[in-house]
Amino acid sequence: MRALLTRVEQDSRLDRVGDRLQRAVLGTLRPRRLRDLLHGVTLGHPLHPAMVQVPVGSWISAAVLDLMPGQRRAATMLVGLGTVSALPAAVTGLNDWAALSRDQRRVGLVHAAANGVGLTLYAGSLAARLAGRHGVGRTLGMLGLSAASLGAYIGGHLAYKQGAQVNQSISELHRMSDGWHSLVDMTALPQRTLMTREVDDVSVILYRHGDEVTVMLERCPHQSGPLGEGEVQEIDGHACVVCPWHGSAFRLNGGEVVQGPSGNDQQILPTRVQNGVLQTRLP
Ligand code: FES
Repeated sequence: MRALLTRVEQDSRLDRVGDRLQRAVLGTLRPRRLRDLLHGVTLGHPLHPAMVQVPVGSWISAAVLDLMPGQRRAATMLVGLGTVSALPAAVTGLNDWAALSRDQRRVGLVHAAANGVGLTLYAGSLAARLAGRHGVGRTLGMLGLSAASLGAYIGGHLAYKQGAQVNQSISELHRMSDGWHSLVDMTALPQRTLMTREVDDVSVILYRHGDEVTVMLERCPHQSGPLGEGEVQEIDGHACVVCPWHGSAFRLNGGEVVQGPSGNDQQILPTRVQNGVLQTRLP
């Protein structure tokens, strides 16, 4: 299975349909604030993994009830809940998928196809149950659960092997040693201008506004874009750094993501000034 998914990652034949679907998703999910909401920007965490809990939990619970006598009505209700709640979960997934890299989108396409088959089977299962054909409904439900489980496995590959929508910057902290690290003399730190420095080979950005100084990891949580090459913009009354790759924006006075496609906040590092020198350390 792993070898198969690795081949999917490299299969450019999937790009024709993938590119078309990406254009359709980006053209449909407007304005940008809607896409940000679906990415989980307001939460500071990706929304899709939370949304899939309802359909998956409902469908698994229905499968358990299907094995017990006298639980047809409860199982039908859970199949219905799972099927209806799968639709918004799919929309959040498509929105995330459209902002992935090409190799991730190929695997994401197969993930979506498996889940689409699962959802279709569950819709059939619900229809059969409502028509009183509970045996057919149970069979379609089991098939649907198998397809959704395959989709979940592929989704795991996408997240944990390929790093889709996972915070790409936070592992940088593991390369920083303990203790305070000197960055720059405060007299050499300009106002309202991004500056990049290294701490144990970890790139950080510095931003000074008056006496307030922010030190933030430079790698964008979305796909490792160089925030140090980004612009500073005022968004919703806050100075934010905007990633030059896909436009995610992070507040410079806290690291909160205010604009996607990143669904994750950016890590801020503690600071102090010692003998006129700005220092930082691990949080
Ligand atoms: S790398 Fe995609 S928004 Fe920064």
